[in-house]
Amino acid sequence: MEIPGGLFITFEGPEGGGKTTQQELLRRYLLERGWCPLCLREPGATMVSERIRSLLLDPSLGSVAARTEALLFCAARAELVESRIRPALKAGTVVLCDRFTDSTLAYQGYGRGLSVERLTEVNAFATGGLQPHLTFCLDLPIEAGLQRKRAASETNRMEAEGLAFHRRVREGFHALVAAEPSRWRLIDATLPPEAVAEQVRQHVDVLLKEAIEHETDH
Ligand code: TYD
Repeated sequence: MEIPGGLFITFEGPEGGGKTTQQELLRRYLLERGWCPLCLREPGATMVSERIRSLLLDPSLGSVAARTEALLFCAARAELVESRIRPALKAGTVVLCDRFTDSTLAYQGYGRGLSVERLTEVNAFATGGLQPHLTFCLDLPIEAGLQRKRAASETNRMEAEGLAFHRRVREGFHALVAAEPSRWRLIDATLPPEAVAEQVRQHVDVLLKEAIEHETDH
């Protein structure tokens, strides 16, 4: 099935909220219903963006100027949008992405202290103004999230930041949700994964229904 202009859904939130798991559960759900979603992650999903990713997340890199970091995340995003997201949306695909522009605002803006307004402009330049139709914030206390992540894999350069940094990031996400409530769905990620998945599915079903109705009206 296809929707003219496609549907773009992103997963955001602090560390350890289970975005990857939820994206996979939603992918399976959509597949069962005849959709063929494209699943991507940020930074990454293109050769250039994966190389930028390894650079950005390498713990041996130490500290990097905040503006350099922001521009690298945005450069990886520009490549992803141009080479994968826009073509897929044009073809009417449902695109799911693990992190997007909001992560730059939360991490490099609220976390690192760069101007959120300026970063919004850089994001718009990188994406050509593309914005998700729907964004999930999988929210949980940072101690719980970092503990989950550290138990599951090696710590990357961003996760290695202190608690105060991650607390600012989480508050940043809350501020972004409050500023644009129509696009965001705030979900308690401390719930069992299946309960989170059910909420995600309900919101996506509403969006799909609206998109299909809109299409049949025209
Ligand atoms: P990843 O291992 O994918 O973490 P997660 O599963 O939490 O997404 O690493 C991505 C890291 O990069 C994560 O700590 C968030 C950070 N990040 C930024 O700081 N700015 C950004 O614009 C993006 C997309 C990610």
